[in-house]
Amino acid sequence: MYDSFHRPINYLRVSVTDRCNLRCVYCMPEEGVPYIPHSRVLSLEEIAEAVRVAVDLGVHKVRLTGGEPLVRKGIVELVKMLSAIDGIKDLAMTTNGVLLTRYAEKLKRAGLDRVNISLDTMDPEEYRRITRRGDLNEVLEGIKAARRAGLFPIKLNAVIPPNGDRSQALQVAEFAKENGFQARFIQQMNLQAGEFSIVEGGEGGNCARCNRLRLSSEGVVYPCLFSDNGYSIRRFGPREAFLKAVKHKPAQGLISNNNTFYKLGG
Ligand code: 5AD
Ligand code: SF4
Repeated sequence: MYDSFHRPINYLRVSVTDRCNLRCVYCMPEEGVPYIPHSRVLSLEEIAEAVRVAVDLGVHKVRLTGGEPLVRKGIVELVKMLSAIDGIKDLAMTTNGVLLTRYAEKLKRAGLDRVNISLDTMDPEEYRRITRRGDLNEVLEGIKAARRAGLFPIKLNAVIPPNGDRSQALQVAEFAKENGFQARFIQQMNLQAGEFSIVEGGEGGNCARCNRLRLSSEGVVYPCLFSDNGYSIRRFGPREAFLKAVKHKPAQGLISNNNTFYKLGG
């Protein structure tokens, strides 16, 4: 699939839930957000069907995100359904890592290739402050579990705060280097203000080379994180929804009033 700017579109990011077990300061308010009711959230079968259609249209890389994907009921089952689809070369997940101790091995057996884990700091108190409720130790144990399970390569995502202080992220990079993981730095963004940035060490944020579409947990296909137009797979059917999104993918992102990280998982 090519969009109107001749970019090959072959990467689908799938948000499987808007719910999360953390409340990171740059993502959600302390009290949380009104959750999307279950009736509006896609079923596992609807997600798998949408991904099958996307793969038929040329997608070969799929990433599960959230919210936090591991709080979605049936996530292992979903990974099994997706890994059975012929044509996916890379099946990955972005997670906060808190539940990986419990799930890493099961995910690997279900056919997940690898994980990106959000980790902004190596300092337990700072981690608690940023996530408002997280326990750094659980994440570090989760990362080890991912390594034991062979979910390689393991990438650690560190968000750099607005004041530009990289000291915490550099410690994450150090930890990554010592343990054979890759670290990527992401400047904190504000979608509503149109502030976005490239991902250092990753491929996100480069509009000219953007190859991605996003599917929200409610089944809306968004051509761009920084744009509000989206196409519902329940309304148009998956094929039409993907084709419309590709056709209307903007040359570059501007401002999004509606999209949020907890809905689209970055
Ligand atoms: N700016 C940049 N990155 C963010 N993430 C969540 N909110 C923001 C934001 N406002 C990151 C998380 C995770 C990834 C899915 O997106 O830390 O690594
Ligand atoms: Fe949850 Fe990720 Fe948002 Fe943190 S950034 S609250 S881990 S969805």
